[in-house]
Amino acid sequence: MTQDELKQAVARAAIDYVVDGEIIGVGTGSTANYFIDELGKIKERIKGAVASSEATAARLRSHGIDVVDLNDVDSISVYVDGADEIDGSGAMIKGGGAALTREKIVASVSRRFVCIADGSKLVARLGAFPLPVEIIPMAANAVSRQLQALGGQPRLRLNKGTNEPQVTDNGGYILDVAGLDIADPVALETSINGIVGVITVGLFARRGADVCLLGTGDGVKTMTYGG
Ligand code: 5RP
Repeated sequence: MTQDELKQAVARAAIDYVVDGEIIGVGTGSTANYFIDELGKIKERIKGAVASSEATAARLRSHGIDVVDLNDVDSISVYVDGADEIDGSGAMIKGGGAALTREKIVASVSRRFVCIADGSKLVARLGAFPLPVEIIPMAANAVSRQLQALGGQPRLRLNKGTNEPQVTDNGGYILDVAGLDIADPVALETSINGIVGVITVGLFARRGADVCLLGTGDGVKTMTYGG
């Protein structure tokens, strides 16, 4: 199976976690896009969706799914999203698609986080994928120095083609940080969150996944974490 077929398989499997009559949280990226396409087929079963990015909102609307403002929602039954890496405890690196802040916000109000990923995303230890950190633009150099002090090698994410900094939906920039030793993802998430100028770090460890649907050549494997 190709990587895209594995993504499609986990996106289909995630439909089993949709709670009828409720609002669902929807992530961002190519795997989440396949999920949105599946959601479009059962759209009459849900009340609407909270989107984690403008791109996701547009795709949901293109399927005729109501996009609901998070401020109009108290809690969400399930949040479905991809990951750049996930470890054996359900901790993830996210933000390859630059949507990490809204993803973390929507996940934070969701009772269940269902991660959908092809098998290449499962790692023994997080950190081979450079860690995305969304920052306030004026703080790029100041935050970079702090990340270097933590052992990382930050690089400002640029738009391909223009070579201008990529600007997120929130008006932030992204630093992609290679070389970090992520022995303790919860501690590193807390520590990077504490740097002045950081909007969000793409470590999802304090609130990791509850379930991971992993696409493999032998089918979709379900991993559950925590209680
Ligand atoms: C976007 C994300 C995505 O979930 C992550 O980058 C995985 O993307 P894909 O499903 O395209 O592999 O965190 O900010």
